Amino acid sequence: MQRASEGALDVAGPAAAARETWASRLGFVMAAAGSAVGLGNIWRFPWLAGENGGGLFLLAYLLMVGTLGISVLLAEIVIGRAAQKDPVGAFRLLGGGAWRLVGYLGITSAFLILSFYGVVAGWTLAFAVKQATGLFETAAPSQVFADLLAATYEPLAWAFAFLAMTAAVVSGGIQNGIERANLVLMPLLFLLLVLLAVRAVTLPHGLEGLAFFFAPDVTHLTTATIAAALGQAFFSLSIGLGAMITYGSYLQRRQPVGRAAFQIAALDTLAALLAGSIVFPAVYFAGLDPASGPGLAFVTLPTVFAEMPAGRLFGVVFFVLLAIAALTSAISLLEPVVAFLVDEYGFRRRRATLLTAVGAFLVGVPSSLSLGPMPELAAFGMSFLDLVDFLTASLMLPAGGLAMALFVGWKIAPLAAAELAGEAPHRQPLVRAWILFLRFVAPAAIGWILVAGLIR
Ligand code: TRP
Repeated sequence: MQRASEGALDVAGPAAAARETWASRLGFVMAAAGSAVGLGNIWRFPWLAGENGGGLFLLAYLLMVGTLGISVLLAEIVIGRAAQKDPVGAFRLLGGGAWRLVGYLGITSAFLILSFYGVVAGWTLAFAVKQATGLFETAAPSQVFADLLAATYEPLAWAFAFLAMTAAVVSGGIQNGIERANLVLMPLLFLLLVLLAVRAVTLPHGLEGLAFFFAPDVTHLTTATIAAALGQAFFSLSIGLGAMITYGSYLQRRQPVGRAAFQIAALDTLAALLAGSIVFPAVYFAGLDPASGPGLAFVTLPTVFAEMPAGRLFGVVFFVLLAIAALTSAISLLEPVVAFLVDEYGFRRRRATLLTAVGAFLVGVPSSLSLGPMPELAAFGMSFLDLVDFLTASLMLPAGGLAMALFVGWKIAPLAAAELAGEAPHRQPLVRAWILFLRFVAPAAIGWILVAGLIR
């Protein structure tokens, strides 16, 4: 955080102090991959795949990540690196006019997602502790889960603890906080994922679960499946609200980004593949239903752990892993809001972090209570939490991604092309294809998810 040692950059005095940057390219890739790999991969992706035909969903998802996902991801990083600003500042600087509204939409989305992400992440902390105490050996996981949700203060306390951890990392700044945490946590996360996948696949009936995950069941080839795959690709890659603009803004102008975007998407996909290779073999081992919805990780897996040798240990490892994945993602939801307050209003980082984290906790309170003691916190047939999830993931993220594709494809196409041309002169056709894709294909496809999501 201390910039005094950077000498030459500081000649203009403290007011013009250099913006923080990542210490290394690897640090950026790890932080961005840490953002992407989260509850979305390990909790959301397997339950969606379980409900949408296993391998078929996987195939649709891979297709979406490889086309639309990677294009918008690269667009966000390029915007951020070019502007060296938070999302609102970036759109104001590069686009002017009403474009900055896209930035405001993104900051609002980040804050709202953080509010319920903290609640769900709190459950992972609670379950890690409950696994450690051996509770699931005597109590049915579905009952434990229901009891946790029905309580008033317990889930709130866990959400608070989780957001406090998130704030502690973010207030450390880019290099000493976010980058350092990810450089330690991401390798640990992948190690745990591989360990659990090996354990799961070698369980009795494990390979049948793997077959379900990889074999496409074409009867599920529907519009809803494709739309769900597209939405999942967006959520999983952390695109649509400017998190990647913010992370990209801490790159030095001359640091290349094309390959980094591919690496981030590859790591995110690898994590999803490993998560599926843990969850489905485990579910088949216990003779459970892979299509059991959002409870899959919280209800099904503790059941599996209770029946398997050394299950208590593996149960703790699994929920610790989920908490780590959630932490590195929540950091990237907090940081855009903090960067906004710092860049636009001159807040100190610590103060901005504290304010945002406390705010997200307070807005998360109704989300948490809506699933238990206060069921009246609901509208349109959805609990408050589901409502905020729907509003952000199904509407605001696609709307933001659509705007970003239009922005790079139409408004700043020459600048964006020039930004990439410099780092890969021999890849001109690919850069042109990327611009055309963002100009026509991406807006049409994303516009379609928005509509499909609304009329569902
Ligand atoms: N990608 C994360 C996950 O899979 C969630 C997330 C973190 C996110 N930052 C984001 C989603 C920014 C959209 C935008 O759990």
